[in-house]
Amino acid sequence: MAERSRGVGGLVDRAMSRRACRTPIFGPVKLSVIGCGYLGAVHAASMAELGHEVVGVDVDVDRVERLSRGEPPFYEPGFAELLRRGVDEGRLRFTTDMGDVAGARVHFVGVGTPQRESGYAADLSHLDAAMTSLLAVMADHPVPGALVVGKSTVPVGTAARLQEWCGSEGVAATVVWNPEFLREGFAVQDTLTPDRVVYGLPEDRAAGEAARDLLDEVYAGVLSHGMPRLVTNYQTAELVKVAANSFLATKISFINAIAELCEATGADVTRLAEALGHDERIGPKFLRAGVGFGGGCLPKDIRAFMARAGELGVDQALTFLREVDAINQRRRQHAVAMAERHFGGSVRDRRVAILGAAFKPDSDDLRDSPALYVATRLVGQGADVVVTDPIALPGLHARYPHIQTAPNARAACVDAELVMLLTEWTDFTGLEPDQLGSVVKERAIIDGRNALDPARWEAAGWSYRGMGRASTTW
Ligand code: UGA
Repeated sequence: MAERSRGVGGLVDRAMSRRACRTPIFGPVKLSVIGCGYLGAVHAASMAELGHEVVGVDVDVDRVERLSRGEPPFYEPGFAELLRRGVDEGRLRFTTDMGDVAGARVHFVGVGTPQRESGYAADLSHLDAAMTSLLAVMADHPVPGALVVGKSTVPVGTAARLQEWCGSEGVAATVVWNPEFLREGFAVQDTLTPDRVVYGLPEDRAAGEAARDLLDEVYAGVLSHGMPRLVTNYQTAELVKVAANSFLATKISFINAIAELCEATGADVTRLAEALGHDERIGPKFLRAGVGFGGGCLPKDIRAFMARAGELGVDQALTFLREVDAINQRRRQHAVAMAERHFGGSVRDRRVAILGAAFKPDSDDLRDSPALYVATRLVGQGADVVVTDPIALPGLHARYPHIQTAPNARAACVDAELVMLLTEWTDFTGLEPDQLGSVVKERAIIDGRNALDPARWEAAGWSYRGMGRASTTW
């Protein structure tokens, strides 16, 4: 597999994707991608980059207009370039009209499956609405050997239900489950050079083999890098995705639980995690203690997984995820409590600068963001809060117009009595303690991501507090 390049500049191995595009191993395939959010839009642009003829469908008119003009509707490093190239070169178009997918051989379905408003289970209404319209088009314009390829994160059992649904509508399509493992901020790279590709195929051997061969054709430019391609049944493919996200969430909550122990004992969780990570069986990744995980995936996926286990009568198997979720919630609450303690109990009228709004760096996604949780809590308690974020401020203004913002860290920190670093953008981790110290009222910082060097900040006269980080010389 090609070495994954890191950083915005090297997001895509351009030579690779260009090569795949110019000399496809097979001819271009006519594809549709239904649902053009973070997952679908990036998938559509990546498939066009591989040389396929792609139509992306979404119900959001504004989003479709922007994508059609080659303008990304969200921030994702490397995406704008791919989108523009696909649109300009005529391989990629977007529409709100499902009728435009007629004639495609493969329909990728990447609509959102958020948490239901009532309860933990996944809300499949977008998926079902998309399937209803898609099957109507497929029934009117049959394409022999057509595939419906699910990419959304769904409860186990969904693929089989959709396959049955095709049959009941008289649509001779094969459903495949092909989970997506992309991370926001690395979406293009993860789509074009994923760690692995999983095909969940139906029981029907002949249909499954034909589906596998057609997907191999679609992904030829990806598979040529030699990454593992695993073929499984539906249930395994569906479970791989939620199991992966649950494992990642568990790893983060594990280290955050240890951070609580560190706080009670005077140990330092960053040094502890470093020592743990040297054990190859554990590994150093996803052991960063802090204000915990957020976003549109990990929190809702572990909850939907628990709900599905309950429906299947095996809820005990996943009760530990309840604890994973609870630990995660406690860490953001703990950050609020640290601010309260800093001010002797009440944050009312105290000026707090918050660095970061997005749930993680290199994303403008505010869904279930720990930073936003802390900001809204402190605002609710009467603190004079100013938030800054390199990319997420437009979304913040739209959804939380009452929250004060500033264009950069320096402006946000003017007269601050406390600074809280809650999303570890490099704009913030690279701040000069002395320079920032010249604008604040009090040199006090809470590092909610353990992303700063305490010694450097303390040397510049700051009172520094991390999450589970001791102030020791060793
Ligand atoms: C996650 C998974 O990593 C992807 O593999 C998956 O495809 C995706 O969900 C999805 O289901 O669509 P993503 O939500 O983009 O990707 O974000 P992550 O990079 O996993 O980070 C999640 C959260 O965990 C962030 O809030 C991050 O700040 C936090 N985190 C991560 C920590 O608190 N500590 C860590 O050590 C790592």
